[in-house]
Amino acid sequence: MKPKQYQNIVFLTGAGISAPSGIPTFRGSNGLWNNYPLEDVATIEAFRRNPNYVHKFINELKPTILETLPNAAHYAITDMQKLCLNANIDVITQNIDTLHEKAGNNHVHHIHGRIDNARCERCGCILDVSKLEVNTKTICPSCKTIGRLKPHIVFFHEPILYTSIVDKLLEKVDLFIAVGTSGNVFPAAGFTTIAKQKGAKTILFDIEPSANPFFDEQIIGDASETLPKFVEERFAIH
Ligand code: OAD
Repeated sequence: MKPKQYQNIVFLTGAGISAPSGIPTFRGSNGLWNNYPLEDVATIEAFRRNPNYVHKFINELKPTILETLPNAAHYAITDMQKLCLNANIDVITQNIDTLHEKAGNNHVHHIHGRIDNARCERCGCILDVSKLEVNTKTICPSCKTIGRLKPHIVFFHEPILYTSIVDKLLEKVDLFIAVGTSGNVFPAAGFTTIAKQKGAKTILFDIEPSANPFFDEQIIGDASETLPKFVEERFAIH
């Protein structure tokens, strides 16, 4: 691989990149959904039905996630962004944690939202709630409406965020790198196919092989080991 041949590099990350930091994935044997019924805490219908229950789930999860530290896979992306100054390197993440930002990654797009944000459903403002426990009595500091704050997280049956940015990135991507994502949740699961159809080279980093035929290369192993090695071997100037 000649690094300089790539000008528009897109990472798609999933729960597997944060697993080495200690955040459980969604579908693994110790998966996040195993302890909580998905239909009670992670669908928009659940939130409409019982917002306080969902707020409680998020309020309990938030401190642990926000205390977690990035791992070598997140730092490898920062390294790559520093090494390839002539390339555009964007990160589309399905993760609601903030480990990409903590590791210094630039151009991170949280298509499933962020656990440290809430959005007022009345005025649309997005708030930093990293230190605030939101519930159905919380007042929006902007429009002063009571009880209309929603976790700024994309629940099941809601559209993803930043679709126009994603569309633009996938239009011109020439190297697409998926890290730690099972390819179960659309539309992100379809990004590899789009990237391939646009002529990009596509690589997967995961501990499990994927049956997706649109990956040109699969690097199997713990992403906190395989991704830094890949960046060092293929992008560092020796
Ligand atoms: P999943 O839990 O479905 O998949 C995690 C992937 O990470 C699997 O393919 C694992 O094999 C892989 N993995 C685990 N540990 C790893 C490691 N150390 N190194 C590399 N790979 C590893 O999580 P996602 O694909 O992110 O949506 O799930 C996508 C979406 O489904 C999530 O964003 C969430 C969930 O429902 C919403 O919340 C809307």
